[in-house]
Amino acid sequence: MTGPDSMWRPPADAWSRRDLMRNGFASVAMVCAIGSPVSTGRRSLVTSAAMRAQARSPFEPFRRDLPRIPELLPLERTAEHDVYELTIQEGTAEVLPGFETPIYGYDGVYPGPTIRARTGRETVVRQRNALAFGSNVHLHGGFVPAGHDGHPMDVIPAGGSFEYHYPNHQDAAPLWYHDHAHGRTSRTLYYGLLAMYVLEDDLERELELPRGDYDVPIVIADHAFNRDGSFRYVENIDVGFRGDTILVNGAVSPRMRVERRRYRLRLLNASNSRSYSLRLGRGRTMTQIAGDGGLLARPVNRTRVLFHPAERIELVIDFRDYAPGTELVLHNEDGSGGSVAVMRFDVERRGGSEDFRVPRRLREPERLPAASADRRWDLGLGFGGWQINGRDFDHARIDVRPRHGSTERWTFVNRSNRVHPMHIHGFLFRVLERSSGPVHAADRLCWKDTIGVLPNETATVLAWFAPYTGRYVFHCHALEHADRAMMLQLEVAA
Ligand code: C2O
Ligand code: CU
Repeated sequence: MTGPDSMWRPPADAWSRRDLMRNGFASVAMVCAIGSPVSTGRRSLVTSAAMRAQARSPFEPFRRDLPRIPELLPLERTAEHDVYELTIQEGTAEVLPGFETPIYGYDGVYPGPTIRARTGRETVVRQRNALAFGSNVHLHGGFVPAGHDGHPMDVIPAGGSFEYHYPNHQDAAPLWYHDHAHGRTSRTLYYGLLAMYVLEDDLERELELPRGDYDVPIVIADHAFNRDGSFRYVENIDVGFRGDTILVNGAVSPRMRVERRRYRLRLLNASNSRSYSLRLGRGRTMTQIAGDGGLLARPVNRTRVLFHPAERIELVIDFRDYAPGTELVLHNEDGSGGSVAVMRFDVERRGGSEDFRVPRRLREPERLPAASADRRWDLGLGFGGWQINGRDFDHARIDVRPRHGSTERWTFVNRSNRVHPMHIHGFLFRVLERSSGPVHAADRLCWKDTIGVLPNETATVLAWFAPYTGRYVFHCHALEHADRAMMLQLEVAA
């Protein structure tokens, strides 16, 4: 690993103020800093929108069954830990039927293989970087000692490897892991370096939520395509990347055949910068049981879910409420064209014998120490890009030093008309207040690690700086914003 103090150079064509002045801010389209995983130099100008018009077929929604994401098998399992091995490498995925899409992927798979971990058992992941550039791995939402967190400056050089240790001393939660090498995550995540990390514990087991085939990770991300089937990426620093096609587990708006019973769906918004407003059918009930950091204190019924980049929500949907043959579309109310239909549930005849209820209480809410500091973070546009309190990311500067074990009130003041999904590494928070209205019960009743701060909104969270000390970052998870420096550093000390 390259330590934080060693030299780091920006990618060759790093965005600069000069580019800003030359191109204007709204749409800075440029050559990819790392190149796309396509090896040919020929670039087609035909976009997915044009392809959609000519030949609808590869983009037609509900044509493919929802791909099940593979689970990673441990190499070794001892009394205390599970050891896994992964290679960060190029690969291909059949995203559009009949096309091979070049990707970057964990073991060359898109989305990457799911790791299932257990609270109290350490997970060890040996990551080998077979790419031609530095990469690292951040366990998003995990309580991870700073040296294993995947700090943006802590990268595994090309050809190198690193063994990440995840202690898993936290409650069951739908976590995920992804690349975090500074300045290029908008490309590396877009091209596939992301996967789910499902942490389970005994308490949750006792609830007897749907398991096995009925516990389904669902990774949602918007993309665009070139004529050869490769992912098309056009940088937009202002709004962030917006694709015209929704992929779920790597397939265009797939369908999922479901039995007449309850399912636990673990949704991850892995989009670079797109927020979704999800609705089932014309407003059917979805029961949310968990958010970013784990179970809600009690289940919350929802007919609409606002879903920002990097957030996770777990839903239980009871398909016994529907007659066999029913087709229920999960819609994105905020979308247009190919970004409206997320996926479809096709209710089959099977099932219906299960006797199960979602319990009224899912977990005990914990007591937290009173806030020992109030801090305010202004989110806005500076001369050179997106900033927090008028500052760009600087790895040589610590911006805030919370005391270990304390809680602090952090207020994010959005001074722009863009959504900024703010994420704190290594720690979790509770949402206290939002200027846009009352905090939704589902957001109040669980731990969060990412909050979508709406245009011109002020949102206050109570962050808990435990269990580990050390240097971490917090940043906007609109990846084009993070890459262009909308990130600061915190250091927690005793
Ligand atoms: Cu999901 Cu700093 O990351
Ligand atoms: Cu942002």
